[in-house]
Amino acid sequence: MAKNKLRKFAEINSFSNVIQPQSHHTISHFEYKGVWRNRFFRNNNPILLEIGCGKGEYSLGLAKAFPGKNFIGIDIKGDRIWKGARDALDQGLHNVAFLRIQAQHIGTFFGKHEVAGIWLTFPDPQERKTREKKRLTSPWFLQRYQQILAPGSPIHLKTDNRNLYEYTIAVIKEERHILECQTDDLYGGNQIDEPVVTSIQTYYEKKFLEERRPIHYLKFFLDE
Ligand SMILES: C[S@@+](CC[C@H](N)C(=O)[O-])C[C@H]1O[C@@H](n2cnc3c(N)ncnc32)[C@H](O)[C@@H]1O
Repeated sequence: MAKNKLRKFAEINSFSNVIQPQSHHTISHFEYKGVWRNRFFRNNNPILLEIGCGKGEYSLGLAKAFPGKNFIGIDIKGDRIWKGARDALDQGLHNVAFLRIQAQHIGTFFGKHEVAGIWLTFPDPQERKTREKKRLTSPWFLQRYQQILAPGSPIHLKTDNRNLYEYTIAVIKEERHILECQTDDLYGGNQIDEPVVTSIQTYYEKKFLEERRPIHYLKFFLDE
């Protein structure tokens, strides 16, 4: 493994804002499940997630924009989380943390109705039909989100991938969820009236914008 990656893995173990649980198989009860606000953040503010957060730009941007909310960036890759966590520590941001897990096991780590919103920022599109279940907006994943989301909590999707965008719209319709807004060209089409949708850009988003790829955005709610 590259020296730099090894250094990040060693350093991340000492970060107070990174939780790297043991394998979900060996966890009988995760210590923060259902009590993230009181036990981890030590406040009573709502908890929002960014799933597949990569280097954490969105989680940090949201934490700065909404100091009265708590944000948790989730990703499986430690060296990517390291960047967001390092920046948050350097900037003294106490309302953002990072959880290194496979999103499939999210129900092990959050209690019923514990989460007040989810951001999916440029998830891997998993285009092969055999990988459908792995798409972060598949019915299988939406069922997992339903277990932890409080009623009336939004899910936001940003993607450059037309197929994932259209697939997600089809899933929302088929499963009778509620699509609040959609655009297939976030920076060229209709304006979205939530400033953070365009004011925060991730590493991948910047790359796609440089390549002049249109960015697609959806906001929806799960049927209760
Ligand atoms: C294309 S990158 C996007 C990263 C970041 N959101 C951005 O826009 O720059 C997708 C990220 O999702 C993470 N990821 C993919 N599937 C995941 C899963 N099932 N559980 C946790 N993380 C996952 C990858 O490790 C990667 O960092």
